[in-house]
Amino acid sequence: MSTFRITRILPEDATDAALRADVLAGLTSSPRTLPPKWFYDARGSELFEEITALPEYYPTRAEREILAVRAGEIAAASGARTLVELGSGSSEKTRYLLDALTGLRAYVPVDVSESALDRAGRAIAAERPGLDVHALIADFTALELPDTPGPRLLAFLGGTIGNLLPAERSAFLASVRSALAPGDTLLLGTDLVKDEAVLVRAYDDAAGVTAAFDKNVLSVINRELDADFDLTAFDHVARWDAEREWIEMRLRSRTAQTVKVQALDLAVEFAAGEELRTEVSAKFREAGVRAELAAAGLEPVHWWTDREGRFALSLSTVR
Ligand code: SAH
Ligand code: AVI
Repeated sequence: MSTFRITRILPEDATDAALRADVLAGLTSSPRTLPPKWFYDARGSELFEEITALPEYYPTRAEREILAVRAGEIAAASGARTLVELGSGSSEKTRYLLDALTGLRAYVPVDVSESALDRAGRAIAAERPGLDVHALIADFTALELPDTPGPRLLAFLGGTIGNLLPAERSAFLASVRSALAPGDTLLLGTDLVKDEAVLVRAYDDAAGVTAAFDKNVLSVINRELDADFDLTAFDHVARWDAEREWIEMRLRSRTAQTVKVQALDLAVEFAAGEELRTEVSAKFREAGVRAELAAAGLEPVHWWTDREGRFALSLSTVR
């Protein structure tokens, strides 16, 4: 018999307060910004899944290729009895790990998207007798793990670490390190620096799915904070920042306009052409990933890429 449980770590009113604080700070700052975690309501999670199937969006296919080849090695090196997965989404690629980890007792997917967790967690529990699936609705930057059997393998796939700003990333890796015990391992997916045109296309696809995903954050704010963003009055922009080596997604106001956010009693004036940054997606080099892991007290023991060298998975132990 397998079990499925879903626990909300952050109460709904705390989530609401966090959204209010982020929107107030982000829309009144210069330049204007919004944190990417608010993309992922049920519609945002669906749109992300559509992105993963786009011909231009290579990271999912590249990471899946690595997992298909290396899952056995990862399982042998980790010997995990618990798999914790941060930002698990559909848990689709995770199946390679679940198949390979023969001694696994518990799977703990952690995500802000309740719809994604519920769907993926139920399906996995139904397919895998004997596995305890304990889904956590939580922000992975405030990591709190349930008491499950060790050793633990903590997986953070998809390149989602690149959506954190550098200071957030180092704080996050330090919190991962302190949540791990000796014998635990971290499996980290990082998208790699490559040709600018390939990168920009991956974040500005011909079918406009990424544009719809980008604008979905405005729908979330309209619904949750009683705002009146007109989604047709903004254009999706994806730009490569060669100095910082990250893609920036932005929403550019087509005209001069005032947006009201009733729940915050806020009126935001956008100039024509003014941009709101909605996401950074950092791309990495091997030396940089190794240095960031080492700075957090983690020791990379394996580094694998797909055949084309587009994406990397690293496996680290605790120093
Ligand atoms: N790991 C999956 C999904 C990646 S999409 C894959 O590789 O395809 C990023 C996921 O992280 C989404 O499911 C989103 O809801 C979740 N997420 C984003 N920010 C988060 C945060 N701060 N805390 C927890 N989950 C977060
Ligand atoms: C979840 N994360 C790794 C995605 C990325 O590629 O940065 C989110 C995304 N944004 C646009 N397309 C996909």
